Amino acid sequence: MKFFKVGVMGAVALFFFFACTHKAGTVVTITNIDSTNNHNPVDSNIVEPIDTSVCFQRDVLPIFTNYCGISGCHNAASNQEGYTLVSYATIVARGVKPGNGAGSKLYTICKSQEMPQYPISKLDSTQLSYIKRWIDMGAHNDTNCVANCDTTKYTYATGIVPILHNYCYSCHATSAAGSAGGGIVLDTYTGVLAQAQNGKLMGDLQHSTGFNAMPLGGNKLSDCKITQVRKWIQAGALNN
Ligand code: HEC
Repeated sequence: MKFFKVGVMGAVALFFFFACTHKAGTVVTITNIDSTNNHNPVDSNIVEPIDTSVCFQRDVLPIFTNYCGISGCHNAASNQEGYTLVSYATIVARGVKPGNGAGSKLYTICKSQEMPQYPISKLDSTQLSYIKRWIDMGAHNDTNCVANCDTTKYTYATGIVPILHNYCYSCHATSAAGSAGGGIVLDTYTGVLAQAQNGKLMGDLQHSTGFNAMPLGGNKLSDCKITQVRKWIQAGALNN
């Protein structure tokens, strides 16, 4: 019995000994890293889940700038309800709880379809999923996005529609065009074809002089995306 007690105490003592050793070791490691860096890149690499299928600058920012951060709504000048949604800093400033998409107002208000408001069209399930997953993963300003644009892919369905969807449907979907898009419909093939044939689609996208720069009030599309549209038009602007 006595032997048993000594054995238990010894085990407890050993446990604390190792617990302390382990703790001390961890502290030393963090101190070493922090003394040379203000942040701890090793730790953040380990804890962040890797979901390369959503990247802020590529997938999330265009949704906010083209569906929300527009004149009369949530650009800096309008700032409706105190929300400006034009850049990473302004987007995470309100209504985003990093790590908790379902509890973030910017997500829930879009999911309930309260926003975007008429005449801007609503977000679809893919766009909602991008926003939720981005917040769930910590709402970081991912800038090193792998390009999802490929100039060799320029069929109407796989090359052109996704671009128009993210950057243009907010004002040019059939439901929105009459009041937000100058009557120009870009969510039907015939609507897009008309603007391809009259030259305005390319002129507007390239921000050429004498044209209306599109997306209205937003950044010019990447060269890769503009090339996809050009190649699609040059190949006959087919419904392919
Ligand atoms: C914030 C709203 C908004 C967004 C986003 C937007 N447009 Fe427009 N667009 C307009 C308005 C408003 C007009 C009418 C302009 C006018 O008549 O002065 C217009 C007109 C056009 C026209 C008709 C020709 C012209 O220049 O008047 C084309 C083509 C066009 N847009 C293409 C696009 C494309 C392509 C995108 C996406 C890359 C886009 N737009 C995104 C609001 C928008």
